[in-house]
Amino acid sequence: NLPFIFLLQLSHVVGAAKRPTVCFRRGLQTVTLIPGDGIGPEISVAVMKIFEAAKVPIQWEERNVTAIQGPGGRWMIPPDCKESMDRTLIGLKGPLKTPIAAGHPSMNLLLRKTFDLYANVRPCVSIEGYKTPYTDVDLVTIRENTEGEYSGIEHIIVDGVVQSIKLITEDASRRIAEYAFEYARNNQRNSVTAVHKANIMRMSDGLFLRKCREVAEHFKDIKFTEMYLDTVCLNMVQDPTQFDVLVMPNLYGDILSDLCAGLIGGLGVTPSGNIGANGVAIFESVHGTAPDIAGLDMANPTALLLSAVMMLRHMGMHDYGKKIETACFDTIRDKKVLTGDLGGKSKCSEFTEEICRRVRDMD
Ligand code: IPM
Ligand code: MN
Repeated sequence: NLPFIFLLQLSHVVGAAKRPTVCFRRGLQTVTLIPGDGIGPEISVAVMKIFEAAKVPIQWEERNVTAIQGPGGRWMIPPDCKESMDRTLIGLKGPLKTPIAAGHPSMNLLLRKTFDLYANVRPCVSIEGYKTPYTDVDLVTIRENTEGEYSGIEHIIVDGVVQSIKLITEDASRRIAEYAFEYARNNQRNSVTAVHKANIMRMSDGLFLRKCREVAEHFKDIKFTEMYLDTVCLNMVQDPTQFDVLVMPNLYGDILSDLCAGLIGGLGVTPSGNIGANGVAIFESVHGTAPDIAGLDMANPTALLLSAVMMLRHMGMHDYGKKIETACFDTIRDKKVLTGDLGGKSKCSEFTEEICRRVRDMD
């Protein structure tokens, strides 16, 4: 029973045997790269250059994501991208434009749906040297990513009256709660706060909250609190340091994660990961495509780079992640080579080169 012993060892190494990643394959690992629209391609080039400087043992497989209509008019992502992700299990993606009147659904959401990326994880940590009204922010929002207000179920009841369904299921609520507690445990965090409005949405948020409470029972080492969304917003802007891990339904997570990103300097410096079942994960920058500066070598690649660092940690490549993160934060703290949005005058390529230089210096 050799395979059995191998499995045992694997589960020992992984800790949580549920989510083995591709990091156990030998040699170079392949990551699917979705550069995206607008500034997406140039910030992707920046990340690739920095990875090359750090000699990260991965190879990129580039795929474009455009809206495609399959049989029966169903919207889908291009098959060559689906095939690549199914094989590599790991993706890094830049911004994809979401036109309101495009006639097709948001490609960002379609990607999450296609790969059942149920947990959206956004760490917000104050960046030394990049001044905001807040210091010592260190929290993580964990957002249910597949249902809730994003179910996409909307209809016209009669002329002038529309209805939108907020779908909450027991299974999705339980798995996001479990993810949040496991995340807290595996990342040396002390508390999980469930964010809800169960006083108003008694059935839907009530179910979500109940699942959080049930899961909390199995994680006695992690402190569990529950709070109303509006109270969290109030307390967050007054003193964000009181929060640690926060778990919530989809739309609350969308809004609260932007608010938290604002505390540390905005979407241009905040990383994000979408974690799915069966070891699939896509890491992405969540800022827009910035069409006004696209192609002008002015964009800030930090959010995509820090998302790529999250990806490296997810793949078990902690040393490479640390190296690149340190080079990025040192560059920002040093203030000499910064892009315009960070208060500097440098080009994207110059900022990138400065990070590469620091990475090489660490050898
Ligand atoms: C995000 C974005 C997306 C969302 C958009 C682009 C569809 O704002 O990742 O937070 O609303 O989830
Ligand atoms: Mn958002």
